Amino acid sequence: MTIAAVQTAPTFGDPRGNLDAVLSTLRSVDADLYVLPELALTGYLFESREEALSFAELPDSEAFDPIAAFAREADAVVVFGFPERADSTVFNSTLLIASDGTRAVYRKIHLFWGEKDIFSPGDRAPEVVEVGGVRLGMMICFDWIFPEVARSLALQGADILCHPSNLVLRYCQDAMVTRAIENRVFTVTANRVGTEERRGESLTFTGFSEIVAPDGTVLAKAGGDREEVLVVDVDPAAAREKRVTPTNDVLADRRPSLYRL
Ligand code: ACM
Repeated sequence: MTIAAVQTAPTFGDPRGNLDAVLSTLRSVDADLYVLPELALTGYLFESREEALSFAELPDSEAFDPIAAFAREADAVVVFGFPERADSTVFNSTLLIASDGTRAVYRKIHLFWGEKDIFSPGDRAPEVVEVGGVRLGMMICFDWIFPEVARSLALQGADILCHPSNLVLRYCQDAMVTRAIENRVFTVTANRVGTEERRGESLTFTGFSEIVAPDGTVLAKAGGDREEVLVVDVDPAAAREKRVTPTNDVLADRRPSLYRL
C-alpha cells in the first residue's frame, strides 16, 4: 500500500481556503492512506474555548463531505485533525474517513501547553480501526511523549500509527523512531510548517514530517520550512512480525506483572 504524509501550512481561521488547498494537494498524489496535520483545516492557536467552539464540527459534518468524496473517488483513507464539537465542549480530535464512508474519531488524550485552556482532554481509550485488512491507530502530536498510547494501539494490533501533529518542540521526530521500533509498527507523523501569531504568542511549527518502518528505518522525511508530501510504499504485514531476534518478541515478551506503578 502507498502512504502519504501531507505537510501543510494552514492559514488560521480559514477552513474553506485550507480545505481547498488540502483537496488540491490530495488530488496531486496517488496513495491509499493520506495523513494530514493536527487541526489541519482551522489552524492551531485559538484565543479561547469559545473561539475554538465557533470553528468546531461534529464528525459527520457536511463540512467534511468533500474529503469523504475524495476518499470514495480515490478508494483511499484520509486522516486529519479537527476541533470536535461535543455538547458544549470541544476536543482536539482526528477524523479517519474511509472510502466506504466510515468515519472514526480519536480525541487527543494528552493536551499540550495552552491547549489545556481551550480543549477538553480526550475521554476515550485509543482504538484500532481496520480498513481493507489494514489496522490503523490514531494518536495526536504530544501523545508521542506518552509511550502508553503507541503501546496500547500496538497491543490492539495496529499496523500503522497515524500521527497528525502541530509540533513545536524538536524531540518528537527522533522519539517516533523509538515508538516504531519498540512496537514494531509503521508510524506516519504529518506535521505542519509556518508561524501563527495570536493572543500575544508566536508559534513556529517544525515540519520534518516522517514515515518510519517497524525496524526504525526512516523511510521518508520532509524539510522543516515548506509544504511537502512524502509518499512511500509499504507492506503493512511487516508490522505483524513482532520479533527482533528469533527469541525476542517486543509484545509477547513483556512482563507486566513485574512492572510497578
Ligand atoms: C502539540 O501537541 N500540538 C505539540
